[in-house]
Amino acid sequence: MNYKNALSNDIFEVISKSAAQLNLESFVIGGFVRDFLLERGDAKDIDVVAIGSGIELAQQVAKNLPKRPKVQVFKTYGTAMLKHNAIEIEFVGARKESYTTNSRNPVVENGSLQDDQNRRDFTINALALSLSSTNYGSLLDPFNGIKDLENKIIRTPLNPDITYSDDPLRMMRAIRFATQLNFTIAPQSLEAITRNAERISIITKERIVVELHKILESPKPSIGFLLLESTGLLKLILPELTALKGIDDIEGQRHKDNFYHTLEVVDNIAKHTDNLWLRWAALLHDIGKAPTKRFSKKVGWTFHGHEFEGSKMVYHIFKRLKMPLNDKMKFTQKMVFMSSRPIVLAQEVTDAAVRRLVFDAGVYVDDLMTLCEADITTKNPKKFAKYHHNFKIVRDKIIEVEERDQIRNFQPPVSGEEIMKTFNLKPSRDIGTIKEAIKEAILEGVIPNEYDAAYQLMLKKGKELGLKITD
Ligand code: CTP
Repeated sequence: MNYKNALSNDIFEVISKSAAQLNLESFVIGGFVRDFLLERGDAKDIDVVAIGSGIELAQQVAKNLPKRPKVQVFKTYGTAMLKHNAIEIEFVGARKESYTTNSRNPVVENGSLQDDQNRRDFTINALALSLSSTNYGSLLDPFNGIKDLENKIIRTPLNPDITYSDDPLRMMRAIRFATQLNFTIAPQSLEAITRNAERISIITKERIVVELHKILESPKPSIGFLLLESTGLLKLILPELTALKGIDDIEGQRHKDNFYHTLEVVDNIAKHTDNLWLRWAALLHDIGKAPTKRFSKKVGWTFHGHEFEGSKMVYHIFKRLKMPLNDKMKFTQKMVFMSSRPIVLAQEVTDAAVRRLVFDAGVYVDDLMTLCEADITTKNPKKFAKYHHNFKIVRDKIIEVEERDQIRNFQPPVSGEEIMKTFNLKPSRDIGTIKEAIKEAILEGVIPNEYDAAYQLMLKKGKELGLKITD
């Protein structure tokens, strides 16, 4: 089979010519070929294998390009990278590798194309297209990766125990590809992942998180989390989630399985937002339920304060996974902390409660509503319709009170300085008291969020506090 049409980017002719000048063979391999065959849209990166020095080939290609791009050389890995029209092209010499047991950094020897294909992760990622003039565009597929693509199967070229043990990150990659592409992992491969799960410990947290993010960004993230759970990887990476598994039953009182509930929520939210951090919030919104679970004969199962507990756990999870402890983390915490607020409110939708919700959630109130709507997983159609209906009322009310009071970016309509000037005050508790009274009156709907009304209330409060107005 010939796939010349995959090589329409002008760069391939340049690579082909450069390789001929150096008298070596070259191939495009990996994700580029896979995604072309899957018609997954424009390629981002291109991986090229040279039978010889990948670094020299990269340098020759750069020489032949009119813009003479800079070549970045990674000597330790024997690879080189250059950018051409925003596409990163990575060059590597064909390698025969063996890995040491406690590191994913390989010991490398030069090899043939087949050697190189052998050491790749999956048959669908080992597909190569020739860039040599004699057979330009022909497919080299020693493991019948094409068939695995058609049958939607993730399979390793070698014995999976070897492939995964060589580089345990590939266990995460298998699950990530299965999730992104909706593929099945071959049974032997899945068993090997289960056997080798513990070896994930030698992989850096940053690499693990890259894969977790790709799973979360997929159309149906639960595929990945179920596989992570069944292979034993999830317990090692996010034990807070596996702790949610199971249903307790005391004297016939049961609670729902919060693990499967969580996965439903994540799949629901994936249909409504691409915001990765909102998806993280959906994944973690109930983690506080495991440590706060209590049983009482009177009320049955309770999870008091699980939102607060959960928001604290978010910080520890992000820290452990070496994720940045920045505003994204704070956003995730805030969503987890507030995740029950709209539900309580939906029982009775009052203007004041909506105003308070908008005040507390600020600019993130829409995200919070999206999370809470995704949280509706009841199988009772009547309840399902009722909850959604109530949330629709909340959403409408948010728009209504926003039009009147613009609480989202709340700025006190009368400043502390003006209070001080009016009553000739030095910084003191009275200023805080007056400001709080104005804020409360606005949130309760006693006065609108406007200067004149706030000014009058300030005068009234000042009088009550025995303050004198300066002339
Ligand atoms: N590869 C591998 N083992 C790894 C990582 C990568 O064998 N742990 C090989 C695969 O052949 C892969 C290629 O290197 O196709 C490029 O890797 P990478 O760019 O990380 O992944 P892609 O397959 O291109 O997919 P994506 O861009 O979706 O990550």
